[in-house]
Order: sequence, then structure tokens, then C-alpha cells
Amino acid sequence: MQKGKLPVHVGLIMDGNGRWAKRRLMPRSSGHKHGMNRMIALAEHAKKRGIKYLTAYTLSTENLSRPKDELDGLFDLFRNYFTENVKKLYAENSAVRIIGDVDALPEDIARLLKEGEKNSPANAEFTMVFAINYGGRAEIINAVNRAIERGEKTDAAGFEKLLYTGGLPEPDLIIRTGGELRLSNFLTYQSAYSELYFTDVLFPDFTDEEFDKAIESYCSRERRFGKV
Ligand code: IPE
Ligand code: IPE
Ligand code: MG
Repeated sequence: MQKGKLPVHVGLIMDGNGRWAKRRLMPRSSGHKHGMNRMIALAEHAKKRGIKYLTAYTLSTENLSRPKDELDGLFDLFRNYFTENVKKLYAENSAVRIIGDVDALPEDIARLLKEGEKNSPANAEFTMVFAINYGGRAEIINAVNRAIERGEKTDAAGFEKLLYTGGLPEPDLIIRTGGELRLSNFLTYQSAYSELYFTDVLFPDFTDEEFDKAIESYCSRERRFGKV
């Protein structure tokens, strides 16, 4: 792999947990549990590979209308694993960032998430971004309203600072597991020039080697940004 061409920021749409579980005649929550473990391992792997930012699509604004028991299961995973893994990330000089409408989540989850990003190291080698109750459209509307509140016209650089992702680079590569060929409201503004990689592999089966395949695909592409 050519180091100079590595993606700086990788977005990851972690889809297929439910189908993975269904195929094993297990409850969907079991798929989410396996998915969570995979995400934690992939963060470490991505950092080792030299990726600087990994944004994991953990919960979309639309997912909030899933059945209560599935959501409770997902929130319990956060209650049980989030803080412990944040500590691990900090210990390895990694930062944590949350993007999404956190305040609309159960209060204890909102608190846990906010606490989790508070003490991130300033000069982190790697940043793990959790997109939770995240929606690209809601993010844009929120930024527009913030711009209006300021009472002056904005430009691209000014507007980008008002997005949840303010200060983060755009995703160079977006990977979606689980076979669907869509972005499902993920990084709608920021993905304008992202390279896209789709795989049928269901997220709990998305190994480090599968991740490397996506990086290799990215490295082989020519990004033109409209130029010749
Ligand atoms: C993605 O897996 C994880 C979340 C949306 C929380 P799904 O739960 O969408 O899994 P499938 O698509 O039903 O297999
Ligand atoms: C996208 O997956 C959201 C996450 C992976 C968190 P979905 O399963 O919600 O997407 P759709 O409904 O198939 O578009
Ligand atoms: Mg899905």
C-alpha cells in the first residue's frame, strides 16, 4: 500500500447485524453485540494502519423508530461497553468525538456520551468518531439554523464549522457493509467527494482483512475532484 495515498478519514456504515443474527437463528441484539465487538477491534486495526479518523455509523436518526426492545438492547451495549473502551482509547493516545443529536437520547446515554469525549487528548494520533442519533439532513438543518442565528451570510468554510463534524476532515473513503448500495443519511454534506466502497459482508463478519481490502481499493483509485 502506498502510504501517501492512505485515506485520512474513513467512514463506516456498519450494516447487517440483524441479518447476521437471523441467519444464526439468534435475536437481533446478538448481532448488535457481535457488531460492537467488531467495531472496537476495527478501531485498533485502523489506527495501526495509519488511518487518522474513523467514523462509525452507530445509530441513525431513522433507527430511533425501531422497536423499543431493539433500541433498549443497543443502549445497554453502550451502557456496558462505551466508557470502558473510551478509557482504552485514551490510554493509547486516541481521541473520542460524538456526532449526532445526543440530547434526544435517554438521559443517561447522553451523559455517558458527552463524558466520553470530554477528556480526549489534545494531540491524539487517532480519533474515533461515533455517529449516534446522527442524520445528515438534521445536521444540515441544524447548521442552517445556527447560521441564521448569527445573522450574517456564510460560505463553505464557515458553514462546515457549524456541522456536527466541525473541525474534522471530510471522509476520504466511506465503507458500507451488508450489501445495500446507499448512504442512508450518513455524512450527507461531507460525502460529496468521498470514494465509496460497498461489500456484501455483514458487519459482524467484516474482518480486519476485509477492511484492508477496502483500503487497497481506495489506494488504487484516482481522485480527480472535477479536474482533468
Ligand atoms: C446495522 O445493522 C446496525 C444498526 C442500524 C444499529 P442492522 O440492524 O440494520 O442490520 P440489518 O440491516 O437488519 O441486517
Ligand atoms: C444504516 O443502516 C444505519 C447504521 C448502520 C447505523 P440501516 O439498516 O438503518 O439503513 P437502511 O434502513 O437499510 O437504509
Ligand atoms: Mg440495516
